[in-house]
Amino acid sequence: MPAIVLLGAQWGDEGKGKATDLLGSRLDYVVKFNGGNNAGHTVVIGTEKYALHLLPSGILTPGVVPVIGNGVVIDLGVLFGEIDGLEARGVDTSRLVVSANAHVIPSYNRTLDKVTERFLGSRRIGTTGRGIGPTYSDKMSRVGIRVQDLFDEKILRQKVEGALAQKNHLLVKVYNRRAIEVDEVVDELLAHADRLRPMVADTSLLLGESLARDEVVLLEGGQATLLDVDHGTYPFVTSSNATAGGACTGAGIPPMAVTRVIAIAKAYVTRVGEGPFPTELCDEDGENLRQIGREFGTTTGRPRRCGWYDLPIARYASRINGVTDLVLTKLDVLTGWERIPVCVAYDIDGERVTELPMTQTGFHHAKPIYEYLQGWTEDLSSARTLADLPAAARSYVEFLEERSGSRISAIGVGPERDQTVVIRDLLN
Ligand code: GDP
Ligand code: IMO
Ligand code: MG
Repeated sequence: MPAIVLLGAQWGDEGKGKATDLLGSRLDYVVKFNGGNNAGHTVVIGTEKYALHLLPSGILTPGVVPVIGNGVVIDLGVLFGEIDGLEARGVDTSRLVVSANAHVIPSYNRTLDKVTERFLGSRRIGTTGRGIGPTYSDKMSRVGIRVQDLFDEKILRQKVEGALAQKNHLLVKVYNRRAIEVDEVVDELLAHADRLRPMVADTSLLLGESLARDEVVLLEGGQATLLDVDHGTYPFVTSSNATAGGACTGAGIPPMAVTRVIAIAKAYVTRVGEGPFPTELCDEDGENLRQIGREFGTTTGRPRRCGWYDLPIARYASRINGVTDLVLTKLDVLTGWERIPVCVAYDIDGERVTELPMTQTGFHHAKPIYEYLQGWTEDLSSARTLADLPAAARSYVEFLEERSGSRISAIGVGPERDQTVVIRDLLN
């Protein structure tokens, strides 16, 4: 019963959407297990470009059943907007299944996300402002609203009343905003109930039955290892578990069902929002990576911070997630540099450190120690096998593989589905 986890090894936007799409028709289920519409996955199929936020990337593959798992937080307006947008382009979304236990993002949590960030000032996280953090906080505080609550109006009203009893104090007394009416929120949520109902199921049961039939279930992570609330660069993280452990809780499947963990890493590193980033380039090289790699957020359009590949991060991601296969993306973007720095360790207050430091202070003080690899000038976009890559690009990949802690099984050389060097099958 093969369940396969696919997740980000760095700070997000590694190209997870493209990788899921690549596995496409060989999958039976694609399950989104964490996050919400803070994610943005760009998938290019021929001349068509799709930007997905809340729907699993499997939605684009005919025959695959896309699932929004219990670990996801759902903005219902965004969900239906995305469905309508895809349907208008001829994509069949009718197979979508949504967990009854997933939490919904009421509008007050979008408001709270934004005002909290403003209130934090220079200590802000740089969130996407989509209400993700407050909705996961509500889940943990046990005042969240779940999908299933929309089908029992009395219960829904009670829960909204309970949540607003706290939130309105915060909004009015701390943030100087107007109080929110219970009716307003109940009506906003109920407006989606009829359309949502046929999609809702016990998705843990559905996936358990599918695995028992030996079908292939892909668990697709939003965000990435260093944005994980437990294992990332806290507090500059998202509010869910984006690492492999989160896949089991967020989808409701047992750990022993997972046979493979595929991590996606860019051939360099990017980050959106605030927080430490040892290899960040605030110079011309950073600007060149951003322009050549088109590093602008799929969700917020913000310029992504860019830096060189970081081996301590890669090894950390391998260990935390038990990575079996690494997919190295955007190697094509590195064409044209005379030599390419790779961070092999950190200098932390005069000490050479090869692991991620234990403390936040240590990570903030970390300065990259680089080894320099020879660059190449050839365009890589038509490479399909390792032999098609110039020798210097092959050496770069071999160096990263040796030092990253996981074997590299595929390499991205362009945004399109077929612009991939496949070294070994990711499913068998
Ligand atoms: P995700 O959030 O991990 O799914 O990644 P995003 O879609 O936010 O960002 C990755 C971007 O890189 C998208 O615009 C992809 O189309 C693009 N992309 C993915 N793989 C490659 C690659 O190998 N080369 C190039 N040039 N672009 C890629
Ligand atoms: P994908 O799935 C990159 C970042 C935000 C912010 C922090 C917290 O496309 O890789 P949040 O709104 O989640 O509370 O913001 O996390 N962030 C992402 N960065 N890719 C993402 O998703 C992200 N989702 C959240 O920029 O720094
Ligand atoms: Mg993204």
